[in-house]
Formats: sequence, structure tokens, C-alpha cells
Amino acid sequence: MAGTTEIIKRRYNRTAIFYDMMDKMISPELRQRALSHACGKVLEVGVGTGANLSFYPPGCEVTGIDFSPGMLAKARLKVRLAKVPVTLLEMDAENMAFADDTFDTVVATCVFCSVPHPVQGLKEVRRVCKNDGKIILLEHVRSDNPVLGKLMDFLNPVSLYLVGSNINRRTIENIEAAGIRINQTHDVRGKIVKLVIASP
Ligand SMILES: C[S@@+](CC[C@H](N)C(=O)[O-])C[C@H]1O[C@@H](n2cnc3c(N)ncnc32)[C@H](O)[C@@H]1O
Repeated sequence: MAGTTEIIKRRYNRTAIFYDMMDKMISPELRQRALSHACGKVLEVGVGTGANLSFYPPGCEVTGIDFSPGMLAKARLKVRLAKVPVTLLEMDAENMAFADDTFDTVVATCVFCSVPHPVQGLKEVRRVCKNDGKIILLEHVRSDNPVLGKLMDFLNPVSLYLVGSNINRRTIENIEAAGIRINQTHDVRGKIVKLVIASP
């Protein structure tokens, strides 16, 4: 496991420098819509450069984790834009240092395209979320369209090499494989981006 994890981490350390300039997949409105569901003690997995931090509603208390020190350095610059308390920690989503049932809400946006072993990371999301808590996932996925899906498979090595992100992950299937119960799925940008509201 360590081999792939180190490779993807290094790619994000490299990408951190220009990430905010190229990150146009998720609009601020969509981030706001997703985070309007967050409440209480919140874990943001794969916080990246902190693009979500300014959108957390009052009352949240956010812990953001990422395994890339480069991405976290950028996120630290955005903490002052948040309206709520934020703590940032370097941590691997596949092996979190939190007790079971710690968080009221667990959030991840465009993360499970990159986590090297996504089902393991999603099992950790489920473990650290309280039984009556909420899981909010905003993720791009492989297209159901046969032609577009194949094109995504073909182009995936380029995205994986350049950025560290897979464009052809079957994340809905991975969420289900981790035992997370999906309550609502909203299609965005055709059906390539999904907003999922789920329970552990
Ligand atoms: C595509 S970026 C998305 C960043 C941010 N969530 C956003 O919406 O802009 C994916 C992030 O997930 C992080 N990541 C990937 N695998 C991870 C893991 N196993 N543990 C922690 N962070 C991880 C990467 O370092 C990167 O910051």
C-alpha cells in the first residue's frame, strides 16, 4: 500500500502549486450547496487547498485532513476565510487517527478519485462518523455513457500521472462496497459529478 500512497502524495505535493488555478470542476455554488448539509463536529477528508473552508455554515467545527503537506500549506492560507473554527492535520484517509463515532458530519469533495485504495478510505469515513451522523460526498465519476466511459478509461493514465486523480472511478459502487448507506444522489454536470448524502 505504501508505494502507491507515496506516489499519489508526491503528485499532490507537486500539483499544490497550481491546483487552485486549474480547479474549475466544482463551482463555489456547488460547494456551498454541498456544505449547507454540514453541521456540528465536521471532518473534511482530503481538504486539499481549503477550497471548501469559507462555505461551512455557522455552528460547524471543522477538522480537515490531507496526506499532502503541499496541499495543506495552501489550505492554511485559507483558514482565515472560514466563518467557523478550523484545525488542519496531516493524515492518511485510509488510516485515520480518530476514534470510532467521532464526527457529526464527514465531508469529501473530489477526493475518492485520488485516494489510492478508495474502499478502505470510505470504510474509515464510515467508522469515524457517528451512527446518526451524515456523510456528504461530492465526487466526479466514470460516465455511464459507453463511449464517454471508454474515453475516460483511455485518458485516465494522463490525469493520474499529471495530477494524481483518476477520472474513471466508479465511486458510487465504492461507497456501497464500504457499507455506507446512500440516502440521496443528485446528478450535476450531466451525470459525471454526483452529490451524495449518506449515512454510516
Ligand atoms: C482533487 S484534490 C481535492 C481537494 C479538495 N477536496 C477540493 O475539493 O478542492 C484531492 C485531495 O485528496 C487528497 N488525498 C488523496 N488521497 C488521500 C489520502 N489517502 N489521505 C488523505 N488525503 C488524500 C490529496 O492530497 C488532495 O489534496
